[in-house]
Amino acid sequence: MTTPALDPHLHLVLDWIDRTRPNRLAVIMDPNTEKHCLPVVSPLLPPHTDFLRLSEAGEEIKRIEHAHALWSSLDEAGYDRNSAIIGLGGGTVTDLSAFVASTYLRGVNFWLIPTTLLAMVDAAAGGKTGINLGGAKNRIGTFSHPTGISLSPEFLNTLPPRHLLSGMAEHVKHLLLTHPLEDMPRRMDALPSLDGPLDSAAFAELIRESVDIKDSIVRQDVEETNGIRKQLNLGHTAGHALESWAISEGHDLLHGEAVAWGLGIELAISASRMNEDAPAVSMILSMRAALAERFPCPVSAPPADELWTWAKMDKKNDAEAVRMVLLSEGGEPLVDQTVAFEEFSAACGASRSRPA
Ligand SMILES: NC(=O)c1ccc[n+]([C@@H]2O[C@H](COP(=O)([O-])OP(=O)(O)OC[C@H]3O[C@@H](n4cnc5c(N)ncnc54)[C@H](O)[C@@H]3O)[C@@H](O)[C@H]2O)c1
Ligand SMILES: [Zn+2]
Repeated sequence: MTTPALDPHLHLVLDWIDRTRPNRLAVIMDPNTEKHCLPVVSPLLPPHTDFLRLSEAGEEIKRIEHAHALWSSLDEAGYDRNSAIIGLGGGTVTDLSAFVASTYLRGVNFWLIPTTLLAMVDAAAGGKTGINLGGAKNRIGTFSHPTGISLSPEFLNTLPPRHLLSGMAEHVKHLLLTHPLEDMPRRMDALPSLDGPLDSAAFAELIRESVDIKDSIVRQDVEETNGIRKQLNLGHTAGHALESWAISEGHDLLHGEAVAWGLGIELAISASRMNEDAPAVSMILSMRAALAERFPCPVSAPPADELWTWAKMDKKNDAEAVRMVLLSEGGEPLVDQTVAFEEFSAACGASRSRPA
């Protein structure tokens, strides 16, 4: 498994290229990372580097057609097992590049340079690669680890604030998984401000802490065989339901925005299962309010029964049960908790009855 490393000047990538001297080297990027990030990276790369440009950006690139086009480009250029690939971009580019690298010739060396906060704290780490199948996210993929993951907070300077907030939601999830609930108000207050110039040192610290937390959880369950890794799904069952609904309706909703909303729902369900006098209940409810304030959801959620249909389609669930990660009174994550529609609906504040 590969632990991401802070590498502000990308020296680790250069060392790797110098040491391994790949016979061919390709950088995969989308139009935005070509514009904003490639100018930083390209002067460091050997002259024979190939630049493989995706024609679009965002979730749309995680399609087999794009993987196929990349495999074909590598093949036509004569890439072999001594060649190497760099993925330069957000989570969509790192997921796709890692998938392509891990499947071409049964796997060639690759290095990831995540350029969004979400990719730095989450997507690029942990060894999961993936593309979507139709509307179903991450249905096709591999477990495969890059040789290295370079984290350079400087790339965040060109990232729109909404995307910074989206990455911060995954960081808050990491904090909730590892910090006592009583620490959370202080941790929420200490999140870096998005007003004014970016505080690179504060973001570097946030990234380092999040990466350490994810790394320590993933190392206990690298290929998702014993359930420990499932705790990273906190906020994601409810969040994915909202995200899938938003995609189907054509609403503009970022993954982290959906996750922040989902964290609020799953915290409310956790609190509803506790003794009402438990100290955790009031801490959880204030945390939910803090999440709503810091991470405003740009869409109004539809009625709970509509979201429930999407939750049941999530690959973590089956037709019978919707499972979530909930928190115990002690703030510990409890994975695989079966949740009833009534609990979900109450947490959403909906008044509809259970769908047939
Ligand atoms: N593999 C995993 O374990 C894992 C974990 C979490 C999320 N993910 C995946 O990550 C993806 C979301 O990642 P994301 O939020 O980074 O989305 P993204 O890759 O679509 O990036 C968001 C937008 O920012 C642009 N961008 C990237 N870097 C930029 C920069 N430095 N300056 C300006 N613009 C820049 C991109 O072109 C895109 O338009 C999802 O597909 C999700 O499934 C994977
Ligand atoms: Zn996520």
